[in-house]
Amino acid sequence: FPADLIRNFSIIAHVDHGKSTLADRLLEITGTISSNIKNEQVLDKLQVERERGITVKAQTASLFYEYKGQTYLLNLVDTPGHVDFNYEVSRSLRACEGVILLVDANQGVQAQTVANFFLAFEADLTILPVLNKIDLPGADVETVQKQMKNVFDIEPHEILQVSTKHGTGVEEVLKAVIDRIPPPTTDIKKPFKGLVFDSTYEKFKGAVTNVSVKDGVVKKGDKIVSAHTKKSYEVQDVGILYPEQTSTGCLYGGQVGYMMANIKSMTDVWIGDTLYHEKSPVEALPGFKPAKPMVFAGIYPMDQSEYQSLKMALEKLTMNDPSVSVSNDNSEALGVGFRLGFLGLLHMDVFNQRLEQEYDASVIPTAPNVSYKVKLKGDKNIKFYGAEEIIILNPCKLPDPSIIEAQYEPMVYSTIIVPVDYIGDINPLCMERRGEILDQSYIDDTRIMFKVIFPLNEILIDFYDELKSVSSGYASFDYEDHGYQESDLVKIIYLLNGKELDELTMISHITKARQKGREIVEKLCKSIPRQLFKVSVQACVGGKVLAREDIQPYRKDVTAKCYGGDISRKNKLLKRQAEGKKKMRMIGKISVPKDVFIKVLI
Ligand code: GTP
Repeated sequence: FPADLIRNFSIIAHVDHGKSTLADRLLEITGTISSNIKNEQVLDKLQVERERGITVKAQTASLFYEYKGQTYLLNLVDTPGHVDFNYEVSRSLRACEGVILLVDANQGVQAQTVANFFLAFEADLTILPVLNKIDLPGADVETVQKQMKNVFDIEPHEILQVSTKHGTGVEEVLKAVIDRIPPPTTDIKKPFKGLVFDSTYEKFKGAVTNVSVKDGVVKKGDKIVSAHTKKSYEVQDVGILYPEQTSTGCLYGGQVGYMMANIKSMTDVWIGDTLYHEKSPVEALPGFKPAKPMVFAGIYPMDQSEYQSLKMALEKLTMNDPSVSVSNDNSEALGVGFRLGFLGLLHMDVFNQRLEQEYDASVIPTAPNVSYKVKLKGDKNIKFYGAEEIIILNPCKLPDPSIIEAQYEPMVYSTIIVPVDYIGDINPLCMERRGEILDQSYIDDTRIMFKVIFPLNEILIDFYDELKSVSSGYASFDYEDHGYQESDLVKIIYLLNGKELDELTMISHITKARQKGREIVEKLCKSIPRQLFKVSVQACVGGKVLAREDIQPYRKDVTAKCYGGDISRKNKLLKRQAEGKKKMRMIGKISVPKDVFIKVLI
């Protein structure tokens, strides 16, 4: 396929602005899928994605389109739409020359529209602005055009208008992709040079990589080498995603497709790697910044005998999602397990859900936390003068304050966009979360954009929900990493009848510890089922009790409700109670549903 008839592009947008719907329409118009397939949103392949209606993993599809007497090959890379997955967005963009910047005409420019625009802008991609949902009565094209001018310097005449739901204007988008986005620059006479921009793991096939062929040709049977691992492989199959894998036997410069090369272990696949022919090595393309996990949580097998099977499940699942980091972890109470790093809380949630759904793993998750840095005091007696810096991923492992010189917590740089009516609520909310407002500016007459620096810990769990609730659902939020800042931190531990709950141990800013401790103790008392004896619940910092409450004893006899003599019903109830117990965890003599501790946090 001649490169000038190829276009590689991606769709970027704020969550729910219609990326997946637009992708589906493009597939339909080009006949890649038939419009009467009821299986909506073909590109959202994972079960969790369908259930939650969000795109987690970027998917690629090739389309053929007749235009001005020529057949064009359009490669569409669908990108995830949640703030947690910005990393995947920037990765996908490396396989593209342009993007469709999709904005809901009803909601206008939102925090992620801004973040994603700048990802594409900084990558020097051609930006094709499109307003979606113009069929909605609340669509306000003029205002959104003004916002796009103010924030992105995009002129109204450049902006297309569509309703992906009804298909209005979608054909124009395809034409604009061809007219405005440049074809890839490539030389097929040069030696093969391929960029690995994504990978999936498939049973029986092993690692399947998505490659963007920058130069040359790669064919089935070729011997290729990974610039990163220097390992060589024979290409088993190559082809395009149409939208399923469709073997073509070769991929030419400018094309995007899949490749299978008998790569058994996903640890051998490096996203951002360069592939070349064994006989003609090329200079490696600049690699990707590795994904940076922001949120950490421990995962322990419910039963220590399941450690190995959990390990295998994690290996398989992380193959498909290399942005999850895994290290070994242990805890006195929970035994041996793992500490996982995620891009955000949703990412963690999705991962845990997949672990249960796809691998049937029963695990005890710990409270999510961020990574802290601690500088230890130098100790002259042990001939150690310099201060040592350590990273704390597991809050239980925060050293004793007496040997700590300084502590640091991770910060984020965030964008908040709200209608001006709510401006008065944003300031106190940011203050309460220890945020520092750097800037506020109007993006049109009715909306204002804040730039705020927050400690990541403060926005991790419920900040977005609170922001939505003070703004009647109108605020949007996006953030990026902003390094570390010195902070005054303490470790809060929780005790049930004197037994420490390792999975709840948390690090908190000193000014927040008492309030946090009280809240959690109160919630624990509400969610831990009554036992046959009294249970005391405590929150402590450094041996000092911050909060304490008791759960009064209660005798639960499940058969009490039975009418006399109905033995089968009685047995059924007893069986059900026994099954329920499998989901219980014992803390000393106290039995507690295994997810209680996580529920009290959210
Ligand atoms: P993520 O996959 O989570 O990033 O979301 P998305 O941006 O892909 O959004 P999606 O395509 O799932 O659309 C979000 C919602 O908007 C769905 O309920 C769609 O039916 C609806 N929607 C999309 N396009 C239109 C449109 O043109 N008009 C109207 N009225 N609704 C639309």
